[in-house]
Order: sequence, then C-alpha cells, then structure tokens
Amino acid sequence: MKQFFSLLSLLSLAAAWPTQRQVENNTLPSAYTLTAYDPSNSLYNGLKVQISGGWNLFASSNPSYCPFTGAEASNCPNGTEGVVTGNLYPSSLVPGGQDFYVRNNGQVQITVQHSHAIPPDAYPIYQGWYWTALPTPSGYESNLPGCPGASNASFYDCGPPSGFWNFRVQNQANETVGGLRACPSEFSEDGMSVYAVTPHFNATGCTELAGLGTRNYTGTTPAVWAYY
Ligand SMILES: *[C@@H]1O[C@H](CO)[C@@H](O)[C@H](O)[C@H]1NC(C)=O
Ligand SMILES: *[C@@H]1O[C@H](CO)[C@@H](O)[C@H](O)[C@H]1NC(C)=O
Ligand SMILES: *[C@@H]1O[C@H](CO)[C@@H](O)[C@H](O)[C@H]1NC(C)=O
Ligand SMILES: *[C@@H]1O[C@H](CO)[C@@H](O)[C@H](O)[C@H]1NC(C)=O
Ligand SMILES: *[C@@H]1O[C@H](CO)[C@@H](O)[C@H](O)[C@H]1NC(C)=O
Ligand SMILES: *[C@@H]1O[C@H](CO)[C@@H](O)[C@H](O)[C@H]1NC(C)=O
Repeated sequence: MKQFFSLLSLLSLAAAWPTQRQVENNTLPSAYTLTAYDPSNSLYNGLKVQISGGWNLFASSNPSYCPFTGAEASNCPNGTEGVVTGNLYPSSLVPGGQDFYVRNNGQVQITVQHSHAIPPDAYPIYQGWYWTALPTPSGYESNLPGCPGASNASFYDCGPPSGFWNFRVQNQANETVGGLRACPSEFSEDGMSVYAVTPHFNATGCTELAGLGTRNYTGTTPAVWAYY
C-alpha cells in the first residue's frame, strides 16, 4: 500500500512539473508592438496597431517621417511597424521625442515631433494604463483563435502576446471607469482607432477590446525617426 502511494505521488510530481513551468508569467518586453487583444473576437484579435495620428486598426502599413532626403535618408531607422518601449512610449529617434496621450474623449493620439505638449484636459500616458502578463508560453491556439496568420501578415500578428494593456481612471464621483474600444477613426476613412474609456468618452459605433496585446519587437530601436 505504501509503495502504491509513493509511486502515485512520483507520477503526479512528474505530471505537475511541465504544467508548473507553463504558468510562469511573461514580463513586459523592453520594445514591443501592439495588437488588438480579444480572444472572443476573431476579426479583431491579433489586428496590428499602426501608429499615425492615433493608434489605428485595419491599416495595412505604418507610415513614418524622415526629415532627410537622398543619401542622408539612410540616417533614418528603417522600421516599418508601430513600436513602443517601456510604459507605452513611441520608439522614435526624433530629438526631444514625442509622446502618446489620451484625449479627454478617450481617443489615443501622438504628439508632434520634438514635443510633449498635450491638451490641458488630456491624460498623459503615465496615467490610467496597466499591463497584465499572460502565462508563458501562451499557446497560439488558446490565445488567438481564428487569427489568419501568415495569410494576412500586413494586418495581423498572430504570435502569442506576452500580455496586454488596459486603461482605468477615476471620474469626478471617484468611481472607476475604463476599458478599451475600437471606434470609427478620424485618421483613416474606413479604419478604426483605439479609444480608452474616460469619464467623457461618448464615441459610438465602437467594439469593445479586452486589451492591447504586447509582442517582443526584435528589430533595431528606435524603430523610426518619427511617427506622425
Ligand atoms: C500570473 O498571472 C496570473 C493572472 O494575471 C496571476 O493570477 C498569477 O498570480 C501570476 N503568477 C505569477 C507567478 O506572477
Ligand atoms: C521578450 O522579452 C522579454 C523581456 O525583455 C524576455 O524576458 C522574453 O524572453 C522575450 N520573449 C521572447 C519570446 O523572445
Ligand atoms: C533594416 O535594416 C536592417 C539592416 O540592414 C535589416 O536587417 C532589416 O531587415 C531592415 N528592416 C526592415 C523593416 O526593412
Ligand atoms: C486582411 O484583413 C483585413 C482586415 O480584417 C481585411 O480587410 C482584408 O480583406 C484581409 N486580406 C486578405 C488577403 O485576407
Ligand atoms: C476615492 O476612493 C478611494 C477608494 O476607492 C478612497 O480611498 C479615496 O479616499 C476616495 N477619494 C475621495 C476624494 O473620495
Ligand atoms: C460627445 O461629446 C462631444 C463634446 O462634449 C459632443 O460635441 C458630441 O456631440 C458628443 N457625441 C455624441 C455622439 O454624443
């Protein structure tokens, strides 16, 4: 009987070991791309966030600005994706930098080059955002069901996200409001842009997102001279 039990516990130890390793969580990568994250929505899940004015979805490429022309243009990094570092800072080389911020109505925007100026009623990027780690390795199937993968690589990145960002702030009554939405875009005619739900958020025709997924960016950083 005693032997039976010790064999059983050996077996369960062996079975538990790989599972235990799988529930270790990821850490936030130092440079990463963003995608819509919502395992229940196969149209949005894995959709790339392209940075241009705002955080845009259903955009097939990410434009960037290089002030140089001719041979000098090689002074500009050649990144072609929306790349973010640290706690949501744009990965751009421009002297003086640029920042993301959340407008009072929730729309996420980027400041112009060389500038950190944001409207007085906007939320600076260090307010409201929080990152949740996903377990590693997070399986492709379990995280991105229905994601089209390589067949639509300009719109989707179906690799497993290391975690996801969401947003939450307090309103004047000191209640918590938050969440993320994809709403009709000011920046592109048939696109959608990311909105954070602020107390004054009132956009219509939006789709709720569970978050914005993060994936390690392996290219050179800064990724571009400037986003615009
Ligand atoms: C991993 O993340 C889950 C869900 O966020 C959390 O419940 C758990 O405590 C985390 N584990 C570790 C080791 O941080
Ligand atoms: C992503 O980056 C994090 C932090 O830099 C690192 O710990 C992790 O191993 C990387 N993951 C992959 C899949 O490269
Ligand atoms: C940028 O240039 C480097 C070095 O030439 C190259 O390895 C990389 O693939 C290029 N990246 C893009 C996005 O074209
Ligand atoms: C790629 O995905 C986008 C966005 O969902 C869609 O509009 C487009 O038709 C798809 N393209 C292909 C080739 O499947
Ligand atoms: C706001 O709510 C928090 C708890 O959610 C409480 O600790 C804090 O005192 C409240 N602040 C005000 C100004 O009521
Ligand atoms: C949202 O709020 C703005 C500013 O308060 C207002 O101009 C706009 O009409 C509102 N939009 C909707 C759909 O209610």
